[in-house]
Amino acid sequence: MVLRKANTTAELGDQFALLVSGVVDYAIFMLDPAGRIVTWNEGAQRIKGYEAEEIIGRHFSVFYPAADTRIRKPDWELEVAKRDGRYEEEGWRIRKDGSRFWANVVITALRDETGRLRGFGKVTRDLTDRKAREDARNAEHAREEARLRSHANRMAELEQTKTQFLNIASHELRGPLTVIRGYNSMLQDGAIPMDQIPAVARLLESKLAQMDRLVEQMLETARLEHDTFDVFRQRFDLGDVTQEQIDVFRPLTTDHRFTLESDGTPMLVEGDRARIATVVANLIDNAVKYSPQGGEVACTVRNLGSEVVMTVRDEGIGIAPEHMAMLFTRFGRLPTDENVSIPGTGLGLFLCREIAARHGGEITVKSTPGVGSEFTLTLPAAN
Ligand SMILES: Nc1ncnc2c1ncn2[C@@H]1O[C@H](COP(=O)(O)OP(=O)(O)OP(=O)(O)O)[C@@H](O)[C@H]1O
Ligand SMILES: [Mg+2]
Repeated sequence: MVLRKANTTAELGDQFALLVSGVVDYAIFMLDPAGRIVTWNEGAQRIKGYEAEEIIGRHFSVFYPAADTRIRKPDWELEVAKRDGRYEEEGWRIRKDGSRFWANVVITALRDETGRLRGFGKVTRDLTDRKAREDARNAEHAREEARLRSHANRMAELEQTKTQFLNIASHELRGPLTVIRGYNSMLQDGAIPMDQIPAVARLLESKLAQMDRLVEQMLETARLEHDTFDVFRQRFDLGDVTQEQIDVFRPLTTDHRFTLESDGTPMLVEGDRARIATVVANLIDNAVKYSPQGGEVACTVRNLGSEVVMTVRDEGIGIAPEHMAMLFTRFGRLPTDENVSIPGTGLGLFLCREIAARHGGEITVKSTPGVGSEFTLTLPAAN
């Protein structure tokens, strides 16, 4: 475009029109008082996609999304410009090809010296890129916020776990400690006859084992929390482990009969033998504990080809359907009368399920209240 020095107002007007027509970054055009397009510039063509010939004479509402034209927003904007002299907003507009762009729009009412409305000037900028950047930034902020929030929630959760830990630890450790202290002072006083000392020693041993077990469970839970739970991998026979654990429990109760059913083939799995032994031990421990009237504790081990499956069935108090969801949660002891009188921390099954999961396996349960429960440990077979 060539601009010369203007000598008259008319020439100035011509040059200004030329300037406007060449602007490419802004759509600058005029509307008649009814909203029909009367001029068009390079920028308008570039941003909106229409040639001057095809758009001049049409109503400017073609640039608006259908939802806006339905509520007559374009007309309303002209009304505001007429009333206030100016209307400005950012919003979605539609290109000729139907695509959307994010626009900054200024509509100015144009009046002659007598104040009569001659039409409107409209300046539109395409801010789609800026909006996309802003949206991306906002999304990033939202993500960051969500990250911080989840971190804060996790900290609160850990804090709560810690408190639970301390409460349970003090409560659960105090029981056996009281027994040990009591017998110790009787020993100091010489109040226990010589011949009863071996029996007392066995009792103290079992209390110490209870404390050991609790400390070990708490350490395991803490390791899980902090993801420092390293699983030691070794190949072993799940049938052997089950037999060993039955042998551990058998002398501890006279009310229960233990059975192990297996077809005698190897039941090889791969993983942390000591931890899987803990899982089996807790399932048997529960079967015994939660069948206070005694009965059969029936174990089976089967090799299903890709899986090895171990079950422990008892004839105990059973579990109500509405309590199933609580079983495997941390400190998830059931709020029943029988439970209150049976010692436990509620960490056993939580740890069992975690350990099984970290071996690619799982623990499931079937139970009928008053009849008994069956817990199933499934592990991938070693190949
Ligand atoms: N065989 C079972 N029969 C009936 N209820 C059971 C049985 N096994 C578990 N439960 C219920 O599930 C709860 C959770 O068991 P879990 O082994 O996790 O904890 P716990 O035995 O109470 O304590 P511990 O941490 O010493 O094992 C128990 O408190 C008990 O109410
Ligand atoms: Mg238990």
